[in-house]
Amino acid sequence: MNTVVLGLQWGDEGKGKAIDYLAGAFDVVARFQGGHNAGHTVYYQGRKVVLHVLPSGIFYPACLAVIAHGVVVQPLQLVEEIRNARALGLTLQNLALSENAPLILPFHQQLDVVFEDSRYQRIGTTRRGIGPAYEDVIGRRALFVGDLLQENVFRAKIAPLAEYYNRLFGAYGHASENLDQAIEQYLQAGQFLKPHVADTTRLLQRSFVEKKNILFEGAQGSLLDINLGTYPFVTSSNTTIAGVFSGTGLSPKAVDRVIGISKAYATRVGEGPFPTELKDDSGRDLRERGNEYGATTGRPRRVGWLDLVALKHAVQINGVDSLFLTKLDVLDDLSEIRVATAYEDESGSSDRFPPHADALDRVRPVYQALPGWRQALGASRRLGDLPAKVRSYIAFIEEFTGARVGHISVGGEREQTIEVPG
Ligand code: IMP
Repeated sequence: MNTVVLGLQWGDEGKGKAIDYLAGAFDVVARFQGGHNAGHTVYYQGRKVVLHVLPSGIFYPACLAVIAHGVVVQPLQLVEEIRNARALGLTLQNLALSENAPLILPFHQQLDVVFEDSRYQRIGTTRRGIGPAYEDVIGRRALFVGDLLQENVFRAKIAPLAEYYNRLFGAYGHASENLDQAIEQYLQAGQFLKPHVADTTRLLQRSFVEKKNILFEGAQGSLLDINLGTYPFVTSSNTTIAGVFSGTGLSPKAVDRVIGISKAYATRVGEGPFPTELKDDSGRDLRERGNEYGATTGRPRRVGWLDLVALKHAVQINGVDSLFLTKLDVLDDLSEIRVATAYEDESGSSDRFPPHADALDRVRPVYQALPGWRQALGASRRLGDLPAKVRSYIAFIEEFTGARVGHISVGGEREQTIEVPG
């Protein structure tokens, strides 16, 4: 069954664990958007591994792991990630990288930093050059993985682009970087990556025709979507279901099921509105208990209560069939658990999710308090193992969002996952 796995919050929902849990049942795992701004934490042979661009399929040698053309690729970072994976004993013969994936070039990262430090409204990006690289795609001047494999083409295309960026940096009063060394490194990285480079749209279409099971691995979360998220505090790709199609070249007919991942509470890194944020000691406690520090940047995450208004919105825009609820065990010690069921502002109360950040910034959450279970859930393996209070908490989420909870995660290990029969 071809399955899309999407984060439904602001990223960091525990997609790494969920995808790793599900990936064994698939013939193909494909990343379709984002770049090395993502950090998927998985445990492989007892070791913690953080994947940034490599799909989780790399852990299964029989699985084709695809980086499709919707992903922006920083070749030096990808080479390093592949080397790290090989050091774990993985051959990566099963990795395919799209020849049409746009490149993140040195000036993209420099521009991301310059913008973050200078613009009137900081986004709190990962400073990896993701936004500027996607801007070049929309601006129709991007370079692609395929260009990197032909030295003359790469040199000819990067020169005018470097000139363009030099002018931009000059206007901001910044010196431009000398690219000579970077160009050599990029070309070398291209040769390293060459055995993996492929027409991934064709590979995926063939897999679809041959009725292989495909897992589409989302990165970040729906509320960070460039079109549907809390703009402008978003990432620069479609993190929602639409990204699957533009990012792989497969049609909606290739998707049988959408699984949405949500934590049992909420987190956000970077700037932007977060109605249920806990700014007091309870937030600090939750951050420590949930170890809420960025997998990519190490930044402490902002934490808060589960926002069901936002979750329902994410369920609806993605057509989510079932929820994968993660980190439920982090709430084990709480005597009371809150969930937001509406927003309030000067015009009254509503369960509508406002489309723009400034409107969302003005709302106050209306909470429903649910009783905590005050019991360790880490050893639970079946729905029946869970206390009645946990089951009513889950039923409440299902009823509010209209999506069933199909999986519940009660710890970092693969086996600490409860499958809820449909
Ligand atoms: P960018 O993707 O680096 O441009 O950052 C834009 C926004 O998305 C910032 O608020 C980042 O913190 C956030 N972001 C990007 N990637 C992730 C992620 O994998 N997890 C959580 N937040 C992310």
